[in-house]
Amino acid sequence: MTLFSGAAAEFWLRWFHTFFGILWIGHLYYFNFSQMAFMGEADAATKSVVFQKLTPRTMFWFRYGALVTFLTGWGMIGHKMGALGIPVTSSWSTIILTGGLLGTLMFLNVWLIIWPNNRVIIENAERTARGEPAIPGVADLAARAAIASRTNTLFSLPMLFFMTAASHLPLTLSPEKSLIPYWCVFGILAGALELNAVKGKMGPLQKLKHVIHFGVVLTLVLYMAMHLLAG
Ligand code: HEM
Repeated sequence: MTLFSGAAAEFWLRWFHTFFGILWIGHLYYFNFSQMAFMGEADAATKSVVFQKLTPRTMFWFRYGALVTFLTGWGMIGHKMGALGIPVTSSWSTIILTGGLLGTLMFLNVWLIIWPNNRVIIENAERTARGEPAIPGVADLAARAAIASRTNTLFSLPMLFFMTAASHLPLTLSPEKSLIPYWCVFGILAGALELNAVKGKMGPLQKLKHVIHFGVVLTLVLYMAMHLLAG
């Protein structure tokens, strides 16, 4: 049966990748579309219950969803570029690496900023519920996690666009043109936004509407840069 043949191995990898991608990004959108606004209006007791009882559960599926998505994604890239020999400068590689690198920045934001900071926030809620003093600096950690989460929501729009475009959008890049100018534009834009996630301010990312607008603009700018500089 085709479904269980060796040839279907990549299909299964893609299926797992999509399932865990939904698990991860579904939680990201729940945090950004619903939970952040709810927490802004909730009283201290409700917030404490959310941090103690809900956040450990959402963070579990969120971070392991991210891990499996990341591993299966790079597994497919390794298979296609390694075993199947697709060159790194091909149209497919350029498009999938654009989505995959944005996804990788998002994965790093989850494991290096959002989860470690939330772990302290959970511990702080448990301590204060027992009547112990609050952990100093916890508000700053929460603010940094929120900026990283907003940045991931922004990145998710171009990430999903290029992820699905790699095999389904007929965009052929010219083999004669250098890809260096395109990768410079990508590096500057993604790098500046990532730097803001690590060290910068929330600024206009506070409003979900702006995050979505920026995500659409980044998608269009990257698409145009690819088309004009390498197409
Ligand atoms: C974390 C870094 C990621 C990497 C390195 C990566 C890599 C890949 C690769 C190599 C493919 C196969 C594309 C093809 O064969 O043309 C793919 C497909 C796909 N990815 Fe990702 N991905 C990542 C994150 C995500 C995330 C977060 C999602 C969210 C849902 C996602 C959703 C998808 C979907 C739906 C497909 C199927 C597209 C198709 O069949 O054309 N990926 N990804």
